Amino acid sequence: MREENDSAARRLALDTVTSRRAMLCGLAGAGALGALSACSGCGRAALDLDPERPLAAVSDVPVGGGLVVDDEVVVVQPVEGEFAAFDARCTHENGIVQAPDSEGLMVCPRHYSKFDIEGSVVSGPADSGLKAVEVSVADGEVFPAA
Ligand code: FES
Repeated sequence: MREENDSAARRLALDTVTSRRAMLCGLAGAGALGALSACSGCGRAALDLDPERPLAAVSDVPVGGGLVVDDEVVVVQPVEGEFAAFDARCTHENGIVQAPDSEGLMVCPRHYSKFDIEGSVVSGPADSGLKAVEVSVADGEVFPAA
């Protein structure tokens, strides 16, 4: 009976060590992921947009709202006939912001920063506005500026 108890105690100790190792490895992995995500907001490459390729048809961009194109650019129409665009990557850690809601707010789904329809930060954690993309309108379409 005593040998069975000793054996059970050894197995328990071994399981505990194994579990602690697994947990420590998990924490190390989580730490590495944390470091990666913390770095994801730096070193942002500029968008490479083709000025010959329209971002959107004017008729597809709602007045007071906008749309996200290819998870790259948000095209907005704050007032009828006036268009603007922004890099859709959140300035916090590159989440792709959503198209403006009924209040003209663009929300990043990662940590819920909010930007107004002019790209300015309304609430963080982002601490700077969306990067503007110059656009022009021709033939009923919105183009990135050359
Ligand atoms: S990536 Fe963190 S709020 Fe957008």
